[in-house]
Amino acid sequence: ALADQVRIVEVGPRDGLQNEKTSIPAETKIELVRRLAATGLDTIEAGSFVHPKWVPQMAASDKVLSSILANSPRSQKPITYQWLLPNSKGFDNYFKIMNTSPSAPDGYPTPPPSPGNDSGPALNTSSQDPNAMPSATSGAEAMGASSNTSGQQHEVSIFMAATESFSKKNTNCTIQESLDRFAPLMAESRKAGYPVRAYISVALGCPFEGPDVDPHKVADLAASLLEMGADEISVADTTGMGTAPRTQKLLQTLKEAGVRSEDLALHFHDTFGQALINTMVSLEHGIRTFDSAVGGLGGCPYSPGATGNVATEDLVYFLHSLGAQTGVDLDEVSRIGDWITAEIGKPNSASAGKATLAR
Ligand code: HMG
Ligand code: MG
Repeated sequence: ALADQVRIVEVGPRDGLQNEKTSIPAETKIELVRRLAATGLDTIEAGSFVHPKWVPQMAASDKVLSSILANSPRSQKPITYQWLLPNSKGFDNYFKIMNTSPSAPDGYPTPPPSPGNDSGPALNTSSQDPNAMPSATSGAEAMGASSNTSGQQHEVSIFMAATESFSKKNTNCTIQESLDRFAPLMAESRKAGYPVRAYISVALGCPFEGPDVDPHKVADLAASLLEMGADEISVADTTGMGTAPRTQKLLQTLKEAGVRSEDLALHFHDTFGQALINTMVSLEHGIRTFDSAVGGLGGCPYSPGATGNVATEDLVYFLHSLGAQTGVDLDEVSRIGDWITAEIGKPNSASAGKATLAR
């Protein structure tokens, strides 16, 4: 097999839903997280603490977080939940909930063993953590989950862009301002025991500057973010403009800049249908972590025309066909894709999901 083990970061509850125009009830978002937790996924990006005027759909993320803390979703293994935070206000709003949750009486969950960049990928340390937050035993209704409920861990995600135009549109600041803004927040977060994931948006194409984003700019940013203490960089093809040759060039440039494949995740939107081809190229470059959204949901409100993330169902089917293990149950995740797309009134764009359900 090209890869033995591949880790999937399910971004459906955040990237998948953030662009939906009609308001989705918090209960539906919570139910989505609960169902996803029972599929064998171990990392779920569950919401964001951004400005509600900028992204109204994510305004209920506080309810989603509180619900997860109060009543841990059932899962076969400990789940890591990620929260997208744009600035100090977002950090404050997130920490406020973590600090007042009865499940986290000491304020913060126990810090995972030192997530330094020299000790390999720091994510997913939860399974070794004997002090992981206690988990509730209710929530048994979630899609035939196994009876042993596991613990939970939380991580924060920050995001910046590889082009100035996108940086301004998405976060109202320059690239340098966002680096300056995040440096102290990342340090604070890691000190509190939350590993930090950092996204670099528009790495393979920008809605305002076109497809030819400088790969050296992406590599410089990735190196700076790792130096600042990021535990993982998610390199994002926001617009889906990435092609196999340009993905190859970008990964080569990252490697030449000294960025290790273990520190990278790739985040493909499938606007031009190139996500799985680009995943293949990434696997050949040693990448073993990929982001996807159930049902192929997703899109960034500040990237006009961009459509969904690669569907988790399609990614899982593809990886399994290569002999790679993901731990994800394709049937379960296919049912969830069907359910959530119907729930929000969108077509299910996961080909492998639909085909799996039809057989
Ligand atoms: P701004 O207007 O420059 O904010 O927005 P500000 O710092 O000037 O503050 C203005 C007001 O907003 C203040 O309130 C703040 O308190 C409040 P006032 O004093 O006027 O009453 N405020 C907030 N309120 C709640 N939560 C907050 C917050 N921050 C400030 N966090 C800001 C700057 C970054 C906040 C805004 O641009 C924003 O929220 N952007 C987020 C956009 C977004 O979420 N985009 C989608 C996610 S990124 C993505 O999808 C890409 C990804 O998937 C990877 C890929 O595919 O590329 C990750
Ligand atoms: Mg995205």
